Amino acid sequence: MRQEHTELEFSGKYDEQHSHAYFNKHQAGFWRRQSHARDVSLARKALKLAGNPDSILDLPCGAGRFWPMLTTTGASRLLAADNSQAMLDIATRYQPPAISERFETFQTSAFAIELPDASVDNIFCMRLIHHVGEANNRMTLLREFHRVCRQSVCISLWVDGNLQAHRRRKLEASRKRKQYQNRFITDRNIIESEFAAAGFRVTAALDFLPLLSIWRVYVLEKDPQSLPQGAEHGTSRHE
Ligand SMILES: C[S@@+](CC[C@H](N)C(=O)[O-])C[C@H]1O[C@@H](n2cnc3c(N)ncnc32)[C@H](O)[C@@H]1O
Repeated sequence: MRQEHTELEFSGKYDEQHSHAYFNKHQAGFWRRQSHARDVSLARKALKLAGNPDSILDLPCGAGRFWPMLTTTGASRLLAADNSQAMLDIATRYQPPAISERFETFQTSAFAIELPDASVDNIFCMRLIHHVGEANNRMTLLREFHRVCRQSVCISLWVDGNLQAHRRRKLEASRKRKQYQNRFITDRNIIESEFAAAGFRVTAALDFLPLLSIWRVYVLEKDPQSLPQGAEHGTSRHE
């Protein structure tokens, strides 16, 4: 059995108070609601491009803001997990019972998912990997996704090559003292080579607002022949 112990500083902030704030954030005001609606529509498109998977793991599910959409995809099995039990509690408390009852929920780290190999068709990962600044940690996460999914991954992150990223990089460069940073822009060619090294092919890239927005959703197809580079043969955490 192999154990991963990747811990991110930002993961610790999702206590009960922060989880409440996160739930409210995406419903507060006209522009937030528009942005949330665009997130949901891009995510739905990504799942269609992934072939409408029959089983989906929403990780991290946060406050469950994608759950209503996920129940409309036709998937027969829906799982939702998060590192924070407080987030899971908020999601199950505030989503309507007819929605939340469709989900098998559990607490887990995305770096060491408590599921057997190849146990879901798709991993649906919104707004996590842009918090992972180190390439070796991103690789741990992507390899874990490769182990657990059978077919595909839909993943959102911050990429370069747009106005928002350009402005943010200028702002970061102008700061005199290095501030605590918990969100990172990744160059598109770097993240795409990391996907390939982890055993995935990019099948689509969907931009929130082309050329303007920093957010992009990738649809990745698992290459069943490929073992991720550097992965040891025969190691499985859940054999
Ligand atoms: C920005 S929220 C995104 C939640 C949801 N996907 C969404 O878009 O609304 C980040 C989430 O990642 C979770 N998280 C942080 N570290 C994690 C880890 N190592 N494994 C799994 N989830 C983690 C947090 O608890 C939080 O719910």
